[in-house]
Amino acid sequence: MKKQLEKIKSIADKELTQVKSINELEELRIKFLGKKGQLTKVLRGMGQLTIEERPVIGKLANKVRSEIEKNIQEQKEKLETQIKNLRLSKEEIDITLPGKKISIGNKHPLTLVLDEIKEIFLGLGFSTIEGPEVELSYYNFDALNVPQNHPSKDLQDTFYFNDELLLRTQTSPMQIRAMEKHKPPIRFIVPGKVYRVDEIDATHSPVFHQIEGLLVDKDIAMSDLKGTLEIFAKRLFGENTKTRFRPHQFYFTEPSAEMDVSCFVCNGKGCRVCQDEGWIEILGCGMVHPNVLEICHIDSKVYSGFAFGMGLDRITMIKYDIDDLRLMFENDIRFLKQF
Ligand code: DAH
Repeated sequence: MKKQLEKIKSIADKELTQVKSINELEELRIKFLGKKGQLTKVLRGMGQLTIEERPVIGKLANKVRSEIEKNIQEQKEKLETQIKNLRLSKEEIDITLPGKKISIGNKHPLTLVLDEIKEIFLGLGFSTIEGPEVELSYYNFDALNVPQNHPSKDLQDTFYFNDELLLRTQTSPMQIRAMEKHKPPIRFIVPGKVYRVDEIDATHSPVFHQIEGLLVDKDIAMSDLKGTLEIFAKRLFGENTKTRFRPHQFYFTEPSAEMDVSCFVCNGKGCRVCQDEGWIEILGCGMVHPNVLEICHIDSKVYSGFAFGMGLDRITMIKYDIDDLRLMFENDIRFLKQF
């Protein structure tokens, strides 16, 4: 019996060296140590041994079992390390390979110009705020000193939800909201979408973008308005740009004006971009009407201010020589990736 046990051990040792997978190892374990395994088979014959022999053989059998178990465990660990190393070597990353190119789009032309304008006004001490596109008729018209029966309030010109609620037609209502909330000095710009009942064509759209500006403080004069907007025009269109103010009429400013800039393409000589005018109209502006200040509980004898409003789409079209407004909203990649 002793010989049988030693034989089992040596066969097991030999077979162990040939095992190539965890599965084979498990088969081997069952074959030698399992309930119906070879070791069990031998131990069944213990009954025939003498009382003296039994503990000796028992001890040997236990030793053989634990040695085989130990060897199996060692072999198992070896195999697992091999498998792991193999997997790691397959997963190895070749850092010398060229990377995959990620295409990261670019900013929309409107965003590019807006960023530029924000930056200019930031440098002049203006902060940027935003306001609601669904606006009260009160803020969009009445508080801005627009007369009750003015045609711009007509259903044909504006999208109404009900008598009081509409899609704002201009960013100017934010003048009121800001003056109600803050005491002077006030200095901000408001970019945002505005809406009007307009058929879409090369120069019209029912939705477009404006940038409003407002400054209220003590001793603000028309010269401050002109100086500020002149700096703005030069920074946006180039140092040689000239500005021209023409009288105009807005309800919420008095006096009011429209500002033209000399054409940055032909320097005022006349070309396609300025339609041979030499000048391009870019914004409306004026001194904040005393009525508007008073509506917002700002003493118009102590404070004065100026306001301006410009069309972002129009300025972008001029700056990039885009001849059709619709291109801005169609999201055609071939157009957008040119910027
Ligand atoms: N809200 C005007 C418009 O949509 C533009 C405008 C003109 C804004 C004069 C102003 C301003 O703040 O002072 O036509």
